[in-house]
Amino acid sequence: MAGLWSNLKHISAMARMFVQICSTKYLRTKVRVVPFAYLDVVDRCNSRCRTCDIWRPRPDSPPELTTDEILSLRPALRRLKTQIVSIGGGEPTLRHDLETCIAAFRKDGMSVHINTNALAIDQARARSLAQAGLSVVYVSCDHPDRDGYKAIRGVDGLNRVVAAVEHFRSLPEPIPVGINVVVSRLNQDALEALADRCIKWGVQKLQFIPVHTYLRYREMVQAALEQLTPRREDLPDIKATIGRIASRLQALGIETNSRFYIDHFETAYEFVRPVPCLAGSLFVMINPFGDVFPCYQQQKGLNIRQMPLDAIVRSTEFRAQRRGVVGCNLACWDAGSAEPSIRFHLPYLLRHPIEVYREARMHLG
Ligand SMILES: C[S@@+](CC[C@H](N)C(=O)[O-])C[C@H]1O[C@@H](n2cnc3c(N)ncnc32)[C@H](O)[C@@H]1O
Ligand code: SF4
Repeated sequence: MAGLWSNLKHISAMARMFVQICSTKYLRTKVRVVPFAYLDVVDRCNSRCRTCDIWRPRPDSPPELTTDEILSLRPALRRLKTQIVSIGGGEPTLRHDLETCIAAFRKDGMSVHINTNALAIDQARARSLAQAGLSVVYVSCDHPDRDGYKAIRGVDGLNRVVAAVEHFRSLPEPIPVGINVVVSRLNQDALEALADRCIKWGVQKLQFIPVHTYLRYREMVQAALEQLTPRREDLPDIKATIGRIASRLQALGIETNSRFYIDHFETAYEFVRPVPCLAGSLFVMINPFGDVFPCYQQQKGLNIRQMPLDAIVRSTEFRAQRRGVVGCNLACWDAGSAEPSIRFHLPYLLRHPIEVYREARMHLG
């Protein structure tokens, strides 16, 4: 009976969310909800990834949000009926107030996720994150072998990642673990071996993301990133491999990318917009300095240090940015933006209701 009640609650929450997002996006009504908030809390990192430069010192950056500033988002998130706060960075576990923030958002009834490289997560930290109420942990792991991992992420960290996944899974109440894999020339031949390992670790989700040269990585030396981009002629094989892995995972009850996402993997490298992007309607992004924008393509925005988040998303300036999303013609297939946009696209939702529901259930906690 409790299971049925919780299923009904999730379905009704999703239906309400869907109607409100559509009315904001297509009827341009006043924003009443922002179901997801991507909140980056750190502009530093303990890894040295070749695909990302957040770890490089930037002496001119403004100060990161303080604990109080992060917690001051709560009333606005409650007013916007935000259901999921996804905390990332940089590396969020570098912040010692991470547990305080998680506990506060949980107290307000939100599901809280973190995106982490897991290098700093030992058993005690996994336990304290769980005690704070962490709902889902996304761990990045791009290669199944020690040397391959080190070549991509710049540190000898695979053992720590494996141990961290085990710490989360062996808690008295295990935390669901999702693995994020950035697909590049450095691991395109190791994806099946990586999937084998993740299945053995007992993870709940495994998702593949094409390496991007835009988004927050656009300040990087583009030539270096382009060397990591899979060759055009390799894309059909990569898609076929990921498709095979996805079928295997689905048969095992492990969440993964939508088939639509896999079929349009090259959208990361050439402009096509196979489904309308819901940036700014379904989700907003807040960077470690408090700037708010619909997605990483538009990194200048109003700041929560100046006005509350709900006032920002209702402002003329943000509305103009949201309209900019409709005309956006940049190559982008970031899973954090694309997958929710696919799954909230009505034709997709009607064709795959069970998949969408299962995915929502994992994320809503
Ligand atoms: C910027 S990281 C922040 C969270 C945390 N430090 C981590 O690595 O999981 C968020 C995600 O972006 C991925 N990422 C890094 N470089 C990327 C790139 N060039 N294109 C696409 N995704 C990338 C990471 O692997 C990770 O899954
Ligand atoms: S991808 Fe994550 S772990 Fe790697 S440098 Fe960027 S922020 Fe750090």
